[in-house]
Amino acid sequence: MDAQLAQQTDEVIKHYGTDAEALVEILRDLNQIAGHLSPEHLLLIAQRLNLPSSKVYSVASFYSLINIKPLGRHVIRFCEDAPCHVAGGREVWEALEQELGIPFGETTPDRQWSLLTTSCIGACAVGPVMMIDDEIYGNLTPEKVHEILTQYREADKGGAV
Ligand code: FES
Repeated sequence: MDAQLAQQTDEVIKHYGTDAEALVEILRDLNQIAGHLSPEHLLLIAQRLNLPSSKVYSVASFYSLINIKPLGRHVIRFCEDAPCHVAGGREVWEALEQELGIPFGETTPDRQWSLLTTSCIGACAVGPVMMIDDEIYGNLTPEKVHEILTQYREADKGGAV
C-alpha cells in the first residue's frame, strides 16, 4: 500500500476517531486532501472503522462532493434539482455534454474537464446553475455555457485559471 495514502487516511481518522458515525466527515476530509478517493482509500477506511467495504463504497458514491474517480483540471457540478430543471436545465445539460463531448459523470480524455451533477447549491433564484471549481454561474443558457467554457479555455492557454 502507498505510504502517503496510508498516512493521509490515518491522519484524518486520528482527528475524527474510529466511530462509524464519523464516516461521512472522514470521507469528505480525505477527499479534499487527496483529490479523490481510490479503492485503496476506501478499503483502508473500512478496515480502520471496522465496517464492510461495501458500506464505505456506497456512502462514498452517494455524496456528489466525494469523488471516487480521479477528476479533471476543472470540475463542473451542474445542479440537477427541480427548480433549476424547470428554469431550463435540460437545454443547459445537453449543451454541457455537447460542448465537452462527454456524458455526465465522465472526465474528458485530456483530463481538462470533469462533468458532474450536484443537488441544490442554494442559488435556485438564478437557476439553472453550475459550479466550476469554486465559482458559481447562474441564469445559464446554452450560449452562456459556451462563453464561460471558452473563457476558461482561453485562460488555461494563457495559464491564468
Ligand atoms: S435547485 Fe439548483 S441551485 Fe437550488
